[in-house]
Amino acid sequence: MATASFIKSSPILEKSAWLQRRSLPFTTPASRRSLPSRSVAVRASYADELVKTAKLIASPGRGILAMDESNATCGKRLASIGLENTEENRKAYRTLLVSAPGLGDYISGAILFEETLYQSTADGEKIVDVLGKQKIVPGIKVDKGLVPLAGSNGESWCQGLDGLAARSAAFYQQGARFAKWRTVVSIPNGPSALAVKEAAWGLARYSAISQENGLVPIVEPEILLDGEHGIERTFEVAQRVWAEVFCYLAENGVLFEGILLKPSMVTPGAECKDKATPQQVADYTLKLLHRRITPAVPGIMFLSGGQSEVEATLNLNAMNQRPNPWHVSFSYARALQNTCLKTWGGLPENVDAAQHALLVRARANSLAQLGMYTGEGESEESKEGMYVKNYSY
Ligand code: 13P
Repeated sequence: MATASFIKSSPILEKSAWLQRRSLPFTTPASRRSLPSRSVAVRASYADELVKTAKLIASPGRGILAMDESNATCGKRLASIGLENTEENRKAYRTLLVSAPGLGDYISGAILFEETLYQSTADGEKIVDVLGKQKIVPGIKVDKGLVPLAGSNGESWCQGLDGLAARSAAFYQQGARFAKWRTVVSIPNGPSALAVKEAAWGLARYSAISQENGLVPIVEPEILLDGEHGIERTFEVAQRVWAEVFCYLAENGVLFEGILLKPSMVTPGAECKDKATPQQVADYTLKLLHRRITPAVPGIMFLSGGQSEVEATLNLNAMNQRPNPWHVSFSYARALQNTCLKTWGGLPENVDAAQHALLVRARANSLAQLGMYTGEGESEESKEGMYVKNYSY
């Protein structure tokens, strides 16, 4: 059994002070008393470990490498460099990523697709063990992707709750310590009250199930970049979405200290004629965080959502130039991988250069997490936007 050995791997089933407090009749409100006691006890058994894992991922100067593209999306990435979508090619690419020397200086967690969680490198070493040596916590994408939401205006909902508890328990056994569930909200298509409620409820149920099985849930309500709307409209929609998400998280008894939020930054729509400066993005996004997110949440790990590599880093840096109560960091896929993938081009002789390209981006975002990124010396390629309409994951 592969485990991330630097994390406590078998939680002790002792009653924490937290559980004892909750079980006292005179301190327990009636609505809490109606919770099934077993589910509270199971979650409490992991409480300390969840908090520890979330804090470890949200450690200064580090963020998450999202490398959990589904086989279909990974196929598109490989096709862009002329490679076939075979297991061998996916393995070669993912081995390149996780074994970049010193990656753990900048990356605290890596989100894997199920195939990768169970995969070994060409040399036969388990990928989770390679991550463990780098002091990177393995995570797992547990959602089953987006499908059309019946009764809506062309909006989507995220599948994956069926069998999630059993899958999560197995992923924990395999070494995963955190999970990801990506759901999306579209501004041009609504968002309808139905789509927002469905997205928020799905995230909350997934979070409760993850925590019961020892996995820190990444709560990812992505507000898609699609649209011509301005930054004010994104702010307004995000306020609604985040409020509903946190309301349902509370209703489902989710431990806020044991989650990580993975939102989109507040930006104008990709087709809006007014572009926003990093300062404006930081102003709106921090205002939203202050209005909606309790400091109990240890990490705000932004997605890049189609911004260019440099844009995502500049925006993150701007947010970290002011003190705030959270660890404001990154959980990027495209904004960490794009130059790396192109540099590799599928050729073994380019692996070193591709790893270097990954480390350049990882280091830049590490500096941005500390508010110390200057933007100097970046390549033209890293400034190119990567927005794709209806991008899937
Ligand atoms: P991007 O950074 O490419 O938006 O991807 C992040 C992610 O993990 C989406 O779920």
